[in-house]
Amino acid sequence: MSTGRGPGTGGAADLHAHLLPGVDDGPESLDDALALVEEMVRQGIEAAVCTPHMFDRRYRVSEEAARCAFTRLRKEVQRRGVRITLYLGAEVRLTEAALDGWTSGAVPRDWGGGRYVLVELPMQEVPRNWLELAHEFLVSGVTPILAHPERYPAMMDDGGLIEEWVDRGGLCQVTWGSLLGTWGSGARRRALWMLEQGLCHVMATDAHDLVKRPPDAQRVLGWIREQGGEETAEALLGNAWTVLLGNSVENLLKVSWLPRRRRWWRLWEG
Ligand SMILES: [Fe+2]
Repeated sequence: MSTGRGPGTGGAADLHAHLLPGVDDGPESLDDALALVEEMVRQGIEAAVCTPHMFDRRYRVSEEAARCAFTRLRKEVQRRGVRITLYLGAEVRLTEAALDGWTSGAVPRDWGGGRYVLVELPMQEVPRNWLELAHEFLVSGVTPILAHPERYPAMMDDGGLIEEWVDRGGLCQVTWGSLLGTWGSGARRRALWMLEQGLCHVMATDAHDLVKRPPDAQRVLGWIREQGGEETAEALLGNAWTVLLGNSVENLLKVSWLPRRRRWWRLWEG
């Protein structure tokens, strides 16, 4: 994987990964976390933002717990000489509490110059005030990136919700695995649609472990290069670096996906 857009070895930047040991539904132990990080490197990832769930009903990871687990992991990664740069961020449930938490400094933001926040929604429904909350972030100079819109049932049914989010100034992150069918055919279809419509700003692994939710990026990237062209692949990879390095959203290239041939089956059948 080579982008030529980020620093270091020319690898990819991953803005969404659950790598911290023992804080959420990511790896349970430090050893598991290290195995996952090593797989990230094998997948061509050079920089990754650790994004534990925060302000979530199930996982209420505190800033202190996240930072403590992050320090432990990073120390061991450095000791072992693993070639990856880790950052600390969060995946926050888009709520009033998250907005307050952001304002009070309770959300780690050691990436993106503090200008971006990764947000998620409940799977069951899109909250009525979701666009108002996004607006509050935007007016304070922070751009929300919606994690995996393709996986929300409401957005699988209605792509207009995704268009509305982007029209209001939000960005979208599609999960690599969605294109492999990890989340079912509905999510796969919506992910492809987002790529075709120019509604996918960045791709990320949302990695949790090596088995159920691995950082499966290489195969999809190869397919994107083949089907969408080198330029599309490079734009997707470049966007992630642009955001990670905190560059201005005005400079963010919107990806237009123009598949030369619709041979989608080639991805998930071999
Ligand atoms: Fe996640």
